[in-house]
Amino acid sequence: MAKKRVAVLISGRGSNMAALIDAAKDKSYPAEIVAVISNRPDAGGLDTAKAAGLATAVVDHTAYGKDRAAFDAALQALLDEHRAELVCLAGFMRLLTPGFVARWQERMLNIHPALLPSFKGLDTHARALAAGVKLHGATVHFVVPEMDSGPIIAQGAVAVRDDDDEKTLSQRVLAVEHRIYPLALKLVAEGRVSVVDGRCRIAGAATPDAALIVPAN
Ligand code: GRF
Repeated sequence: MAKKRVAVLISGRGSNMAALIDAAKDKSYPAEIVAVISNRPDAGGLDTAKAAGLATAVVDHTAYGKDRAAFDAALQALLDEHRAELVCLAGFMRLLTPGFVARWQERMLNIHPALLPSFKGLDTHARALAAGVKLHGATVHFVVPEMDSGPIIAQGAVAVRDDDDEKTLSQRVLAVEHRIYPLALKLVAEGRVSVVDGRCRIAGAATPDAALIVPAN
């Protein structure tokens, strides 16, 4: 089966993008990264993408002022140019217009560093620590117009330790992000994910029986 053509949208260092690039190196992986697009010219991930031999582009949002529709149209033109079939937001820090989101319905994924629907928005790790949750993690979901919402494709959890700070917790969550994003993209690219009543069903997926209980004793 032909690999799905994927564009990755970034705003920063691009470690999730790098995880997707790595996964896509496997010849059995069902998706290929055809372009990496940043809204910031200084995004560190652009260098990583170039070093991997990928096509990169910048749509600098500052050039569009408040005209979000024009920014999204420029983005769409690039996605058309690269014949993208799926879009992965990977630390992409711009809200997209409802029209753009509708066009990519169930074909655009996002990763969020929390167990949604808890801790939408920014500073998720600090807020998880402040709330005293014992389990924290990351979520890959389809993008809908409302921020950090949309059908959940995959989640991964970590135990929160008493001595965690934002840095240590974010590092463990990031390691989980780098596992669940390639997994979620694979499932979508294989056509195994369907949305029924707002929930993702994953054809042929195994679900672990083990519970993660914190503390352990
Ligand atoms: C990640 O934690 C991602 O979940 C969030 O922003 C961060 C981006 O990191 N949306 P990177 O650019 O992928 O390294």
